[in-house]
Amino acid sequence: MSRTVDLRSDTVTMPTERMRRAMVEADLGDDVYREDPTVRRLEEECAELLGHEAALFVPTGTMGNQISIHLLTRPGDEVLIEGSGHSYDWELSGMAVVSGVQPRVLVGDHGVFNPADVEEALAERSSIQSRVSLVIIENTHSMAGGRVWPRDTMAEIQRLARARGAALHLDGARLFNAAVAGGTTVADLAAGFDTVMVSFSKGLCAPLGSVLAGSTSLIEEARRTRKLLGGGMRQVGVVAAAGRVAIAQMVERLGEDHDNARRLARGLTELDGIELAHGHCDTNIVAIDVAGCAATAEEIRDRLGEQGVACLKTGPSVLRLVTHRDVDAADIDFAIRAARKVLAGC
Ligand SMILES: Cc1ncc(COP(=O)(O)O)c(C=O)c1O
Repeated sequence: MSRTVDLRSDTVTMPTERMRRAMVEADLGDDVYREDPTVRRLEEECAELLGHEAALFVPTGTMGNQISIHLLTRPGDEVLIEGSGHSYDWELSGMAVVSGVQPRVLVGDHGVFNPADVEEALAERSSIQSRVSLVIIENTHSMAGGRVWPRDTMAEIQRLARARGAALHLDGARLFNAAVAGGTTVADLAAGFDTVMVSFSKGLCAPLGSVLAGSTSLIEEARRTRKLLGGGMRQVGVVAAAGRVAIAQMVERLGEDHDNARRLARGLTELDGIELAHGHCDTNIVAIDVAGCAATAEEIRDRLGEQGVACLKTGPSVLRLVTHRDVDAADIDFAIRAARKVLAGC
């Protein structure tokens, strides 16, 4: 069988043997009646891990983000978000459809807001202008090459939002990557936000599932909104069990993905015409700009695919390659050799 190294996303990871076993053995109940002990344990563990009062299991990160937007805004409000942010660009205009709000988009510095722009966007508005009631930060920032937010900038944005009475949501689909890369805890990175979403189904390898954490009262409301969106689930401990394994056993190893990403970034940027699209590789996402190559991003992606390396085109000249548990250093070297071959043939 020919080899395929799938670097499209960390969501392609398969559940581990321990996850599969935990899923089979999970204690179950009807979670809409709050009778699923495995879900309850996962929610308690996540609340504690994230330093918030309560947490709610949701099937997807998208649902977690959209519930938060629904809770923290009123129809007609605006949501401050970075221009390539997931909740803006990759959730089918969900904030407009589900919550009747519109994004106020800021172009960040590789995913990170400039505090001066935030201050201007949050400045006092007249009575015939819409309110900016929510600020969303994405850490790590997926479309900015898995960038980890600088702590000082995050604190400054939090201060500005608080001063203007705006709420704060953290899209932490890859917050565990940010914590491992920064040598800190997810609780540390989740402090100062009203709500925080983290995912188990990316680098942590669970088949699905995320949680939304916040105050007890917000999470009570979130439970209602989840039901409204069709996310009330029954014996869902069968998947929450994999989430428990994810947070207990899969976090520390993310450092290996980061090492492999750096190895890949080094190997690719040694090739003529390739640069890092965002000038850095902080975590497990390698975004390369191929504008300097003779072939287009589409052609390079397709030829890499023919060589057994799958990646995504995420911008006119940008390709994204994501490392994860199901690829090792030898796979990374295979991908670098494939890229060398593809570029030599252009
Ligand atoms: C930063 C970020 N937020 C949210 C999501 C949505 O997660 P899901 O695919 O579980 O809906 C993703 C998905 O990749 C993501 O990268």
